[in-house]
Amino acid sequence: MRRRNHSTALFIGVTLCCFVFLLYCSSGNGRDSKIAANAKSEERDVEMACRIPKLEQNRPEVMQFYRGQSSLSCPGEHNWVFVDQEGRLQLTEEAIKKHGQNVKCSVEYILRVSDEHITKKTANDMIGKKIEESDFFTAQCRAGSSNWEGMLMTVVRNETKVKNLKTKKQPKDWSGLNVYFFGLDSLSQMAYRRSLPKTVEYFEKEMKGVVLDGYNIVGDGTPQAFIPILTSQTEVELPLTRKRFSNANYVDVYPFIWNNFSDAGYVTLYGEDMAHMGVYSHRMKGFKEQPSDHYVRTFFQEAERRHGNLNCIGSEPMHNVWMKYGNEFIERYSDVPRFELLFHGRLSHDHVNLVSVMDDDFAANLKKLHTSGAFKNTLVVIMADHGHRFAELRNTHQGQLEERLPFFGIYLPEEFRESEKGKTAYENLKNNAHRLSTPFDIYSTLWDVLKWPSNQALAKMQPLDRRSLSLFRPIPPERTCEMAGIEPHWCTCLNWEPVPLNGTSLMIAKKIVDEINAQTEPERKLCAKLELKKLFDAKRLVPPKQMMSYLKADDIDGEKPNFGGKAQVSSAHYQVKFETTPGGAIYEATVLYDSSSGESGSVKVDFKSISHVNQYGDKPHCIIDKNYFLGAYCICYDKIEKN
Ligand SMILES: *[C@@H]1O[C@H](CO)[C@@H](O)[C@H](O)[C@H]1NC(C)=O
Ligand SMILES: *[C@@H]1O[C@H](CO)[C@@H](O)[C@H](O)[C@H]1NC(C)=O
Ligand SMILES: *[C@@H]1O[C@H](CO)[C@@H](O)[C@H](O)[C@H]1NC(C)=O
Repeated sequence: MRRRNHSTALFIGVTLCCFVFLLYCSSGNGRDSKIAANAKSEERDVEMACRIPKLEQNRPEVMQFYRGQSSLSCPGEHNWVFVDQEGRLQLTEEAIKKHGQNVKCSVEYILRVSDEHITKKTANDMIGKKIEESDFFTAQCRAGSSNWEGMLMTVVRNETKVKNLKTKKQPKDWSGLNVYFFGLDSLSQMAYRRSLPKTVEYFEKEMKGVVLDGYNIVGDGTPQAFIPILTSQTEVELPLTRKRFSNANYVDVYPFIWNNFSDAGYVTLYGEDMAHMGVYSHRMKGFKEQPSDHYVRTFFQEAERRHGNLNCIGSEPMHNVWMKYGNEFIERYSDVPRFELLFHGRLSHDHVNLVSVMDDDFAANLKKLHTSGAFKNTLVVIMADHGHRFAELRNTHQGQLEERLPFFGIYLPEEFRESEKGKTAYENLKNNAHRLSTPFDIYSTLWDVLKWPSNQALAKMQPLDRRSLSLFRPIPPERTCEMAGIEPHWCTCLNWEPVPLNGTSLMIAKKIVDEINAQTEPERKLCAKLELKKLFDAKRLVPPKQMMSYLKADDIDGEKPNFGGKAQVSSAHYQVKFETTPGGAIYEATVLYDSSSGESGSVKVDFKSISHVNQYGDKPHCIIDKNYFLGAYCICYDKIEKN
């Protein structure tokens, strides 16, 4: 979330540089720069407009910045009360054991007035009675001379609302799916995998959720992630809502897609856990009317006033209270379609790895919802808004890329994806995981949930000139950042850039010749040792210059980019074309060069990506029968022309 200068918070270090691995390598004979798409993808030879960088997760050089994280301990006194299945306030067994049945509890309901103000209403003698007036309340209990006070949240089913929703009609071609969206602040795909490995494993292996490798941000910060997801537009395209302007509107003017879900009879929940830095109220004017049927901000308006550290609510980790609330929404409204969006920031916003304390609980909760059937008819999204944005990280190549490639995972329920209408969409989703996608696309994807596309539409490539494409339909592989609405400084797509034929590229060509000689060394009696004669051509695969030099936004709205950054490309694939002597063989090779390792950097030569591009003739005749592989690198002595 774009809220404060992080330069002090950083401990991940400057040296997280750059272990960019590419999905792509030189394909076929390498005579042109055709790039193989992902190995799994069918368009192996399509010249892709966007080459998505594939970052590596667990290199020791990165892992050293992740400190071990002990679990969260919440030392408060255990709650005396809980809300039972029927929505009644009850004493816990532990409280009864300690204090007997003679405990008196009152509750103070917390009610929304606005995004800034709340009001309260007290109800006495509540044990055994229904919590009715608000989802959020403080309970105060007394037993003799002891007392306890704590904050709770529970989903109070609103019958009036349900009745009203049941009168609404879903579109004729409705998918029948609920939406469950669980977001976390500031986690790149790699950071999410590092900190929440069990969650990701359950999501990918058991649920067969699909994680998007090419999901690229389109702006600086959390609102810039969610506004496109929920409206398909950007803040500047929408009416003014910045609260420092006197003519600003409330964000109610935005065409949030949850309104369309409401219109289609969905009950809605929107929840953030940081009221003081609310996505729509920190810089923007906030909501005048409550935007969703259940709205969690109200709870945190009070909680932040009472408590400093909200990682715990009393004796419970806040993330568990949070997930339980999300689960209750599913239980209490099991008979109506549901749209639920939870966005959790406290654990991940200011820390590199604190969020790992929720991995066990998060994975267990996904498992519980998945195995209990709660997700049976539900599109599940687990995601983040963007990667870490600490200033020092932005000085590194890896940091620049990670910031722009947040985690985004989508699950379609088993029954749905095996059904006639879900089958193609699931295949498309899996293919699209390796293509360029953006928050704008999530909007169209959600619309497909409301109005499911025909089989014809699911089979048809979407147009390149549309900014928002659905992930359930084919996304063209030739899509570029510009077409997708991504400005150059956010664009992580890699492009070939010519480089001078001296310096690094020359060193790389020599290194490749050394490696070739090392291969033929055991056969030196048959094959001549080669030398570099001439380097013809050299280029490297790098992100746009604006991306590398992006430092920060110069304005608080995150619109004026400052390109004073110093991040250097520290690792890139180089493609070189050169001639060797004797024998005049011409080779083209793609290698990974990492300038951050060792004095002159390291070159990783993979023989599969070296090709001999001119005629061999019979120059290697002496080795072919003995060692076919060496044929491309061997010049037999009797074929060397004597000058
Ligand atoms: C229930 O919903 C109705 C209709 O939306 C609303 O007027 C009422 O205030 C709601 N009740 C509670 C307790 O939120
Ligand atoms: C979706 O809801 C918005 C209100 O937020 C409305 O303006 C728009 O027309 C709706 N779109 C459709 C296609 O119904
Ligand atoms: C490469 O050549 C250019 C001019 O052709 C020269 O300016 C530059 O210093 C050379 N670089 C190295 C590393 O030799």
